[in-house]
Amino acid sequence: MTCKQNKLILYGDSSYAEMIAHYFNTDSSYEVVAFCVDRDYQTRRSIGSLPVIPLEEIETQYAPEDHHIFAAIGYKRVRTHKALYQKITTLNYPVASYISTQAIVDSSADIGQNCLILPGAIIEPEVHIEENCFINSGAILCHHARLGAHCIIAAGSLVGGYTTIGPCSLIGFRATVAELLKVEEETLVGAMSLLLCDTQKHTMYTGIPAEPRRTHSDTGIELLTPAEKGR
Ligand SMILES: CC(C)(COP(=O)(O)OP(=O)(O)OC[C@H]1O[C@@H](n2cnc3c(N)ncnc32)[C@H](O)[C@@H]1OP(=O)(O)O)[C@@H](O)C(=O)NCCC(=O)NCCS
Repeated sequence: MTCKQNKLILYGDSSYAEMIAHYFNTDSSYEVVAFCVDRDYQTRRSIGSLPVIPLEEIETQYAPEDHHIFAAIGYKRVRTHKALYQKITTLNYPVASYISTQAIVDSSADIGQNCLILPGAIIEPEVHIEENCFINSGAILCHHARLGAHCIIAAGSLVGGYTTIGPCSLIGFRATVAELLKVEEETLVGAMSLLLCDTQKHTMYTGIPAEPRRTHSDTGIELLTPAEKGR
């Protein structure tokens, strides 16, 4: 068994958090040693051989000087993805990022903490990615693109050169965002859509070319199943 340099705690206990644990354990210098979750949301005491600890107790059981932390909160509700990440930044742990060894990341790219860069992603020169952005498999960020904090870039999507994506935005599966655009905060671009224009805040764009369809300023971006929406 290999002994890794860095011990990592994951915040989150969903199957999504389990997937992130797999990436860290198999392809990084981190070894996941525990999961943690807010006490009121705890539904299980272990995941495989690892404990799930209430967040409220984590610092007493796992010393901040010996561990890193990562908020493994998915994209279902982007405001929750942001809020729970912000919660762990109030603790005393250094915050990790995961960059797959199977991603192509130019050495000039600037990547914040709590970011996830999955296999097959391409990050071209001079790209700037702020904290808590998840770049999924095969996504491409062209040169000089800038991502605000808490963005989700879905698998197979592309952001063109010099385009700026505002915080808490989500670019859907295989969507294309053209170059030189200003995409405002909480923009949702639907799967397979082609965005050719600047956007308005808190707005969903879909189609080829993508057009504004509706706003979500009250809830933020939510990708819920029909059952979760109560349909
Ligand atoms: C954009 C999206 C969220 C809309 O879902 P929804 O709320 O169920 O959409 P609606 O059923 O209300 O559709 C609204 C309209 O937009 C159209 N539309 C929705 N998504 C579209 C898309 N991706 N491309 C083109 N048109 C789309 C619908 O056909 C509908 O048109 P109509 O009013 O003429 O019938 C969804 O289609 C989508 O793309 N989800 C992203 C999935 C994804 O990429 N996940 C990544 C996770 S990392």
